[in-house]
This record gives sequence, C-alpha cells and structure tokens, in this order.
Amino acid sequence: MLNLKNIYYHPSTAERPILNDLSFSSQPGRITIIKGPSGSGKTTLIEVISGLSGCQKGEIKWFDKTLNPRQRRWLCGLVFQFPERYFLGLSVGQELRLGQKKLTTYEQLNLLNKVGLNKLHLNKSPESLSGGQQRRLAIAVQLLRKPKVLLLDEPTAGLDWSMRNGVIQLISKLKDNQTILIVTHEPELFKNLNIDCYELNKGKLLSFKNTQQIKKD
Ligand SMILES: Nc1ncnc2c1ncn2[C@@H]1O[C@H](COP(=O)(O)OP(=O)(O)OP(=O)(O)O)[C@@H](O)[C@H]1O
Ligand SMILES: [Mg+2]
Repeated sequence: MLNLKNIYYHPSTAERPILNDLSFSSQPGRITIIKGPSGSGKTTLIEVISGLSGCQKGEIKWFDKTLNPRQRRWLCGLVFQFPERYFLGLSVGQELRLGQKKLTTYEQLNLLNKVGLNKLHLNKSPESLSGGQQRRLAIAVQLLRKPKVLLLDEPTAGLDWSMRNGVIQLISKLKDNQTILIVTHEPELFKNLNIDCYELNKGKLLSFKNTQQIKKD
C-alpha cells in the first residue's frame, strides 16, 4: 500500500505551496484517480510521489517503510502526459531496449503482448503507431522496470474514443499486479473500474464518496 502523510511541497520558485498537508493512501488492486483543474498540482503530485521532486514535509511510505526520493524512483514507473513526445528509439524494439539492452526478442514480444500490442512488428517506428498504440508502448517501457506503483499523467488525453477505451482496458488489466494512480481531467472515463476518486483542491485531496459524483472539470 502506498501511503502519503501530510505532504507539503513549496518550490522556492512558486508563490505559494503547491501541495499542502496532503494525505491519502492507495490500496493494491484498486485504482486511485485524482482529478483537479489545470494548475491544481496534479503533475507536481506525481513528480513528488515518483521521487523526481522531494517534498519539504511529510512522509511517503510503501507499506511500513518510509521511502526517500531515490527509493521512490525505483518503486514507481511514471508515464508522462503525451509520452509519445519522448520516444528515443528508431523502432519499437529499440525503444524497449533503451533501458534494458539485453532484452531478448522473446521478452520484447511477450511484453508487447501484455500491453495488447501483440500484432506489432518490432521494426516499426514508434512515430508511425496510432495514439493508443503509442500510449501502450510508453506503458510497456515502464513495465520493464517492474514498478510496484504505476503513475499515469493524463493517460487518455488527446485520444479518440476507441483508443481511449483500449488504454482504459489495459489499465484495468494491470491493476491486479500494480498499484495504479492516475491524474486526469476525465475521471468519468474510469468510473466502471474499481476506483477511489479524489479531487486536488488548494494543495489537499478531497475524497469522493461514490462515482456518481464524478464530473468533468
Ligand atoms: N518548480 C516549480 N516552480 C514554480 N511553480 C511551479 C513549479 N512546479 C509547478 N509549479 C506551479 O504549480 C502549479 C501546479 O502545476 P501542475 O503542472 O502540477 O498542475 P496540473 O494540475 O498538472 O495542471 P494541468 O492539468 O494543466 O496539467 C502551477 O501553477 C505551476 O505553474
Ligand atoms: Mg499536469
């Protein structure tokens, strides 16, 4: 279980704290959805959890162990918003091997299968994939690191209806093996999954009792 307690984050370049006494926990097997208006601090929260930023106060635990930012970088896989902008490989296979040079063809195909890209050729260039396929590839790259926690920043942004559904199905499948946290402007898309929904407001998280209350920002 991922547990955040009294997190306070105020970068010196910001006028006021972005995260302020923020607490919540994310249960294994459930998906945590965090919604909030633009600029409310959703991406910042993901960066703090993943250890890309350190917070000034509070603690982040994985079960009973408090983790420092470096340990959190190992714990978490982070898929940025529009991850396709950051592909470096000239082919799907190369993209997968960037982090793990010794990945065999069998392992690469196995991984693609896991994210629903079983028909994809390893020689294809990442740029030539559809938006939904690119999101799946970005998730596959993170899965290679075997993260306990998968953090997804706006995973459905900019995708059309059928591609969004594909990505949501994949997320639903992954939740059995990973603790998943999603920040999104579109929480209603996830309401049929096993979710806990929060709204980020003035640096704190407010819980939603039920999915009926999920509305677009
Ligand atoms: N290092 C920083 N220094 C100064 N201000 C920052 C820093 N990081 C984030 N901010 C500010 O904190 C606020 C929250 O930014 P963040 O990107 O986390 O919002 P968001 O909820 O992800 O927005 P969006 O929905 O548009 O992606 C913004 O006003 C942003 O300008
Ligand atoms: Mg953001």
